[in-house]
Amino acid sequence: MNLATRYLGLSLQSPLIASASPLTGELDAIRRLEDAEAGAVVLPSIFEEQIRAEQDRWERLTAAGTDSFPEALSYFPDPSSYRVGPERYLELIREAVQAVDIPIVGSLNGVTSEGWISYAKGIEEAGADGLELNIYFFPTDPSEEGQAVEERYLQIVRAVRATVSIPLSVKLLPAFSSLGNLARRLVEAGAQGLVLFNRFYLPGIDIAELRLVDDLILSSPSETRLSVFWLRLLRGRLTASLAASSGVESAREVIEYLLAGADVVMTTSALLREGIGRMKGLVGGLRDWLDRHGFASVDAIRGLLSREHLAKTEPAARARYIDILQRYPAEQPSRG
Ligand SMILES: Cc1cc2nc3c(=O)[nH]c(=O)nc-3n(C[C@H](O)[C@H](O)[C@H](O)COP(=O)(O)O)c2cc1C
Repeated sequence: MNLATRYLGLSLQSPLIASASPLTGELDAIRRLEDAEAGAVVLPSIFEEQIRAEQDRWERLTAAGTDSFPEALSYFPDPSSYRVGPERYLELIREAVQAVDIPIVGSLNGVTSEGWISYAKGIEEAGADGLELNIYFFPTDPSEEGQAVEERYLQIVRAVRATVSIPLSVKLLPAFSSLGNLARRLVEAGAQGLVLFNRFYLPGIDIAELRLVDDLILSSPSETRLSVFWLRLLRGRLTASLAASSGVESAREVIEYLLAGADVVMTTSALLREGIGRMKGLVGGLRDWLDRHGFASVDAIRGLLSREHLAKTEPAARARYIDILQRYPAEQPSRG
């Protein structure tokens, strides 16, 4: 069974990728992921705030010749609370690249296009095979127009593209008014891949304590539908690689994503919940399914259920939406 896959111009042993999480920041885990047939590993993100805090600290130290911490940094999280600082991050890349043969993708997480982008060069020089940009921006100011938000994304991609020559992917939140158009422009700006999608991490409300709760809930398979929708639509319409992300629990979701048109499928929650062994189960489950259905390779199923493939027979999205609402029975038979 041939699981060989191309992603961002890189050759992968399988289409399963371990996405960014604390797990992928451990060298031993990266080795075990390779053994479990992961196609690639995305390291946890280094954040713009961390890079800026370090730069600021360095500038002030050299300017003032003291080791005092400036108050101006007080709105950044305390740098010591991060797992890995900017220097150690580059070391992690160097060590990971030495430790395994599968591609290692660095991850930069930021929201502006100035002052910290040069760090991307460090990631490239440390030997990363690719770079994933996680642009996690909340447009909380009601006077900021959607077009300006999109322009922010494009500027960051252009700035990073101008800084490095390794393959670049962009991990997107799904909240844009015309996602297909933005996707096209991100590719024109220099992205060779899109990761669909990032998850929102939003606070909940504790009604007993009357306070906000910052908990992180791992994903479930019900979250795959939005990514499936956009993968199906974008397959064959962009010159970029497409990565599916969110909601993988079993091989079933992996197969759904590939049928929709994903080049690769990323997973984090399943690995955090069940351990690295889960990666082996996902790859094995995909292999068994392909075998049982008489497919000789993973390439043979990619995009089989994409819009491109089904365009002639598929009802329009709006027709399907109306039909779904109208077919739903007013009363469920099980209810009295
Ligand atoms: C504990 C934890 C830490 C994460 N850290 C990062 C990160 O540093 N950078 C990033 O781009 N995504 C990060 N993610 C998001 C995952 O990479 C992934 O996109 C998300 O969990 C959806 O995939 P899943 O449904 O397979 O979990 C993190 C997720 C979790 C649960």
